[in-house]
Amino acid sequence: MTLLQVDAISKAFGGVQAVQNMSFSLQAGELLALIGPNGAGKSTTFNMVGGQLVPDSGRVLLAGQDITGLAPRAIWRRGVGRTFQIAQTFASLTVVENVQLALLSADRRIFAWWPRAAGHRRGDALALLAQVDMQAQAERPCSALAYGDVKRVELAMALAHDPRLLLMDEPTAGMAPGERVALMQLTRRIARERSMGVLFTEHSMDVVFGQADRVAVLVRGQLLAQGTPQQMRDDPRVQQAYLGTGLVLENETTPP
Ligand SMILES: Nc1ncnc2c1ncn2[C@@H]1O[C@H](COP(=O)(O)OP(=O)(O)O)[C@@H](O)[C@H]1O
Ligand SMILES: [Mg+2]
Repeated sequence: MTLLQVDAISKAFGGVQAVQNMSFSLQAGELLALIGPNGAGKSTTFNMVGGQLVPDSGRVLLAGQDITGLAPRAIWRRGVGRTFQIAQTFASLTVVENVQLALLSADRRIFAWWPRAAGHRRGDALALLAQVDMQAQAERPCSALAYGDVKRVELAMALAHDPRLLLMDEPTAGMAPGERVALMQLTRRIARERSMGVLFTEHSMDVVFGQADRVAVLVRGQLLAQGTPQQMRDDPRVQQAYLGTGLVLENETTPP
């Protein structure tokens, strides 16, 4: 069954039609990249799937169930996770404590119980860290980690409630090119292992063309084209859309 079905969603902010009649679908275990110039409507689309924004029209179906307009927490409970930025981790806590907190939240307990969290599902937290290759750094404070490693911890935290669908809006922002590819390779491996769908936005074409199974190209709020990375790279409409934006459709590390 289709994991995520986005069916003709639209959203306007005042006079700005941020997203118009957007449709796409995503299967379990698949990585779909949403790409497009700044302001194309990628984040707005994400926020309509995650519940932070309510579409003006259209529907969002998760495994056939209508989740359109549900609150973010309700959508999260149905198995839609998202990675958050660095500020979402508690820098003074250790790596494993951060993941334990995420597990506590997944178990729907509240942070007032934090004094007890130190013992909460420590083994499960370490197992999640092992999945993102961070077990060796479990006892370090997050503040001492390299940026790419913080991103792995954030991924482990997002996995704590065992999402069916993971939303990642610009997950590799601020990372070096090699680190970006590594993070999304890891994400891809985990998505396959868990049969988890991943919807992500990304500016690095190395990541998009190397790691995405399919690519949807947004321009000015509309879906311009979708297909395999190779199909999108070869599509003259896509090349045209990227002209003059300063973004390139070539791999960054490939010499000209
Ligand atoms: N909360 C908002 N209020 C008003 N305009 C917004 C808001 N969010 C996004 N927009 C506008 O909607 C369009 C799409 O934005 P966004 O979805 O953030 O694009 P992207 O993530 O592709 O860069 C832009 O023109 C942006 O200025
Ligand atoms: Mg955005």
